[in-house]
Amino acid sequence: MGTENTQKLERIQSEALEKLDTINDLKDLENWRVTYLGRKGTLTQVLRGLSQLPIEERRDIGSRGNQLKSLLEQKLSEKEESLKQADLERKLEESSIDVTLPGYSIQLGRTHPTTKILRQVCDIFASMGFEIVEGPEVEWDSYNFEALNMPKGHPARDMWDTMWVDYTDENGERPMLLRTHTSPMEIRFMERRDPPIRVIMPGKVYRYEATDATHESMFYQVEGLAIDKGITMADLKGTLYEFARKLFGEDRKIRFRCDYFPFVEPGVEVAIDCFVCHGEGCSVCGGDGWIEILGAGMTHPDVLRWVGYDPDVYTGFAFGIGLERIPMLMYGIDDIRLFYNNDMRFLKQF
Ligand code: DAH
Repeated sequence: MGTENTQKLERIQSEALEKLDTINDLKDLENWRVTYLGRKGTLTQVLRGLSQLPIEERRDIGSRGNQLKSLLEQKLSEKEESLKQADLERKLEESSIDVTLPGYSIQLGRTHPTTKILRQVCDIFASMGFEIVEGPEVEWDSYNFEALNMPKGHPARDMWDTMWVDYTDENGERPMLLRTHTSPMEIRFMERRDPPIRVIMPGKVYRYEATDATHESMFYQVEGLAIDKGITMADLKGTLYEFARKLFGEDRKIRFRCDYFPFVEPGVEVAIDCFVCHGEGCSVCGGDGWIEILGAGMTHPDVLRWVGYDPDVYTGFAFGIGLERIPMLMYGIDDIRLFYNNDMRFLKQF
């Protein structure tokens, strides 16, 4: 019963396996697959014809046919695997790899000029016993302004072009911003610690700026703070003098002039004598002989009160350094935007 179809399957099997043995490239293998397993392949035809067969034969031939199908599929993938392997081995043998040839060199990165100067500044203050601490770039209005003696509506807020975060609190106010300076870190640090304090706090700050050669919307500052019993303006001057000499050369002179910052009293602007012309006047110092490098002052009693320190017991000083300005002066870089454009021609020079 059903011998005709059984024989047909047997014939397909022996013929297919025999042919498979003789195949040795992938193209012939694909033809083989089409011949037996393809849509119009001989085995596929038998399986398609099943519905025309009487029920008992249908079962028998169906099961044998499907077994044969899996067998052929398995043989096909084994063969494919072995042909690919052979192909790979042949290619490896044909191609001559000279392992002694030099490879492609990988472009090595360099330390960014900002990182370099930041490390130098940190080293100098660390050698004077200052800790180094970082803090958040997204800040509250209360830390960035209010605690620093600038309540809402205070005109001194205009000194900082501010980027506000689009977040409204339950009182309908927008209290979140990108910090405009590192000074809020003074508050954060004093809230966490008791005097004596000696700390520098470097990091990125943000301004709502139309950028140009001297203005970027993101740049670095280094904030400094020292609080203890009996700290005076002489300590401020001595510390910053030492800093300037270590960074810009032993023979540096330093100039303090009155300036206004709401969170210090008195406030000063600190300049060094030009390290290029030594005070004669040149293009680096703008003909003035002096170069401004930072703002500083004695911490305002109200700022100390805000964090719960008693200003009758403790005094201290603070300073803020604009970091990029230093390598700009040292290397004669005339555009601050070069620092963050990621142009390798610029960055490779440091
Ligand atoms: N935060 C000031 C600014 O961004 C710089 C500054 C001035 C910081 C005086 C200070 C300071 O700590 O005492 O312009």
